[in-house]
Order: sequence, then structure tokens, then C-alpha cells
Amino acid sequence: AFPEYVRLVEVGARDGLQNEPNPVSTETKLELIDRLGAAGISYIEAASFVSPKWVPQMGDAREVMTGIQRRPGITYAALTPNIKGLEGALETGVQEVAVFGAASESFTQKNINCSIAESLERFAPVIEMAQKAGVPVRGYVSTVLGCPYEGEIAPQKVAEVSKTLFEMGCYEISLGDTIGVGTPLKAKRMLEAVNRHIPMEKLAAHFHDTYGQALANLYAVLEEGISVVDSSVAGLGGCPYAKGASGNVASEDVVYLLHGLGIKTNINLQLLAETGDWITRSINRPNRSKVGVAFMAG
Ligand code: HMG
Ligand code: MG
Repeated sequence: AFPEYVRLVEVGARDGLQNEPNPVSTETKLELIDRLGAAGISYIEAASFVSPKWVPQMGDAREVMTGIQRRPGITYAALTPNIKGLEGALETGVQEVAVFGAASESFTQKNINCSIAESLERFAPVIEMAQKAGVPVRGYVSTVLGCPYEGEIAPQKVAEVSKTLFEMGCYEISLGDTIGVGTPLKAKRMLEAVNRHIPMEKLAAHFHDTYGQALANLYAVLEEGISVVDSSVAGLGGCPYAKGASGNVASEDVVYLLHGLGIKTNINLQLLAETGDWITRSINRPNRSKVGVAFMAG
């Protein structure tokens, strides 16, 4: 059955911008975060404390996290792959952090420079230290519906990594179709495998729209009871070096779908669409939200 309320995790300021080759000013990121909050988004992933050599665009994570005009009732979160990242994030008073692993061995190696087993070993002290500081930890699992290097990924592998992260203390596991290759039945099958170990209310869907399947996949997992959805305003994102790669499913499109299904979000779609229009103009990118484009035209 469909959930009554869905919490959106807005990742535009992080996932949406991390691959942007042109520098985006801290000021622009802060305005984006502020506008998203004004539109009613209650959870904003604002920055990533990763190596600036690996991801230069997130190099101002500290400035972003400390510059936010925090609004009550909104969680501002950041990615922290290791202790160094967590220490940086804690210094800024971060409310929540996230560690990120994957169900594919080669993707883990390319993304965070270690094996799956090593990544889990590294996350253990990060989770422990965050919990001691009273900061909840979200866990990402990437490549849940396919890997750019290994192709098909077994649902059992996704379940295994998710279960480990959950047992290590992540309060929620976000299932990432990193390259957007999934289709609805595949998404359902993967979710069912994970749900054998983790309750549905502890799982989130993080779908990219590379093959135009993200909304269909979301519909499929919403039907199964998923009630947390990661998305990025205007569908921001995409790797400039991977041909055809695109961003997360657009937040505006997700909100339109949810409201049409009678599912509450507490998000003001007009303000969200205006935010998507503003940020895409600011960074000179096409608006990849169909709903956003239609709203601004009408
Ligand atoms: P490494 O090179 O193995 O780490 O990288 P290291 O510990 O050997 O450190 C190497 C250098 O990086 C050192 O600097 C460290 O100080 C520095 P040097 O001595 O050479 O000058 N360093 C750091 N600097 C700042 N912050 C830190 C940090 N850690 C080390 N936290 C590491 C390992 C994980 C750091 C690296 O591989 C990395 O930063 N990777 C980033 C990967 C990334 O950000 N990917 C995108 C996010 S994941 C994603 O988008 C998927 C998701 O959206 C879900 C989905 O769609 O599926 C979440
Ligand atoms: Mg992603």
C-alpha cells in the first residue's frame, strides 16, 4: 500500500552539484539550500566532507555547513566517508551525516578507493564516533540496480551490504540506482530482498534518471511502502565525463507524482519549481524537471 506521507531527502546541493565542472560559489549553494527550505523541504543534504582532490566542487563543505541560515524543523546533513570527514562535519555542528558504500566491488574501489569489506571496516568507527556525538548516521548503498563496471548486481548482494550497514547502526539505508539503469520489477525484486532483513520504514529510494525510468521505479517501490525518497531539484546532477549520465530524479516531478497519488509531502511545488528554475539559470544548465518546466511556462 502507498504511504500517507513521504519525506523527501533533497540531494541537489550535494549529488546535484558534486560533478558540476564549473565552480559554483558557496553563496549560490547557500541560496539554493535556503530556497529549498523555504519550499518546505525538511531534509537537505547540503555538503560532502570528501577529499577535494577527488571532488573539487565539494571543497567548500565547511563554509557551506557553517553558512546555512538554519530554519527550525529542517535537518541539514553531510556525507562523511571517513573519520577525517566526520571530524570536519562535527566541527560545523552538522545534524546528520551519511556514509556511502556500494553493492559492487569495482564501484567501491573507483569511488572510495577500497574494497567493500574495507569500506565497512572504515565506516564502523565513523558510525561509532557520530553516535557518541549524538549525530544520526544514514547509510547509502550504491549500484543496487546495476554497476557501470560489473553490470548486473544480485539483489542478495545489495541485501547483504544493506543489512551490515543497518546492523552497524545506520538508522536508514538509502538504496541507490547510481546509474539509473533499473526498471520497476527489478526495483521491486531488489527491495524485497533487502526488506527481508530491514523494515520498509528504514529504507529510502535514491534513483537516478539516466534511462528515464526513475519515476516508474519510484511508483513501484512506493506501492511496496517506501516512504523516503531522495531527489534533486531540477534533476540536477550527472557526470560530465560519462556519456548520457544524468542526475537524480527531479524533486518537482516526484512531488507532483506524490500529490497526484494523494500522498502528503508538506512541500510547496510552486516554490520548488521556482527554485529549480533559479538554480538552473544560475549554473547555466538545462532544467531536467518536466514539471518544473511546465510550471514555469504556465
Ligand atoms: P584515499 O586517497 O584512499 O584516502 O581516498 P586517504 O585517507 O589515503 O587520503 C588521501 C588524501 O585525501 C590525503 O590528503 C587526505 O588528507 C585527504 P594528502 O595527504 O594527499 O594531501 N582526505 C580528505 N580530505 C578531506 N576530507 C576527507 C578526506 N579524507 C582523506 N574526508 C576518500 C579515500 C574516501 C577520501 C576518497 O576516495 C574520496 O574522497 N572519495 C570521494 C568519493 C565521492 O565523493 N563520491 C561521490 C559521493 S557517493 C555518490 O554520489 C553516490 C550516492 O549519491 C548514492 C548513489 O547515487 O548511488 C551517495
Ligand atoms: Mg546519487
